[in-house]
Amino acid sequence: MSGFSADWLALREPYDLRARNPEVLAAVLAAFADHPAVSIVDLACGTGSTVRALAPRLSLRQTWRLIDNDLSLLARAAGMQVPTNVQVTAAPVDLNHDLEAALDGPVDLVTTSALLDLVSAEWLERLAVETAVRAIPIYAALSYDGRIVFDPIDDADADIVAAVNAHQHTDKGFGPALGPDAAQAAIARFESIGYRVTHGMSDWVFGPDDRDIQMETCAGWAGAARETGGLSLEAAAGWLTRRRDAITAGRSSIKVGHVDLFARPMGTR
Ligand SMILES: C[S@@+](CC[C@H](N)C(=O)[O-])C[C@H]1O[C@@H](n2cnc3c(N)ncnc32)[C@H](O)[C@@H]1O
Repeated sequence: MSGFSADWLALREPYDLRARNPEVLAAVLAAFADHPAVSIVDLACGTGSTVRALAPRLSLRQTWRLIDNDLSLLARAAGMQVPTNVQVTAAPVDLNHDLEAALDGPVDLVTTSALLDLVSAEWLERLAVETAVRAIPIYAALSYDGRIVFDPIDDADADIVAAVNAHQHTDKGFGPALGPDAAQAAIARFESIGYRVTHGMSDWVFGPDDRDIQMETCAGWAGAARETGGLSLEAAAGWLTRRRDAITAGRSSIKVGHVDLFARPMGTR
């Protein structure tokens, strides 16, 4: 168990799919446009959302190796329906310990989504070094960047967001997490080692009808805010109650900042 339930990943997947930055996605597709086949490793695959987002857009032959340390999520990913030009294998790997093993073998592209904000600066450095020595491009989507915009606004929003962003820096299994700083750190690091980086925003946009995801997200944020101790129980509970009332009444919209990036070694397309 990773703490990421299949239900939560299923709930967020349509919003992730809609949020993926089109320019970044186009850069990924262009990089492989004249390849007959591509071998992809997806780090922290969950139930396989990156395969579902990318595979239908790549018309070439694709071999995907899906990596996660949650056996239940990995089993779902391994069992997903894929187009005939796509082959999927799954491997249980703890990426904190065995990143290098995950990247071994012929790999043309590393993908990941909603992972970089969980990792530490040290782990990001390992990722940059290990992909650079192999000259592999990387498409890293949907890193949370710390921006949350609520409509309607509430007096406690700023305290909640500050507490959530503090919680984002706590250890998620890779050491102190980069959290909202992850995407900018990754962009800077890949550029500094000679990669060209295409990046752009990939914000979640929840409208008044997106009640389930708003309910889950707000409950998660209130819990995270409590765990940091940044807010009293009364303040967090009061905020969550007001948010729930607004969501139930169809009066709530939320935007959550994310960043996508595609980094490829200089000299490649
Ligand atoms: C936020 S989920 C994202 C899943 C998927 N990429 C997606 O976008 O739906 C984070 C994923 O990281 C995986 N994960 C967390 N720590 C890991 C580790 N040390 N090794 C491998 N996978 C890990 C979790 O099991 C989970 O599937």
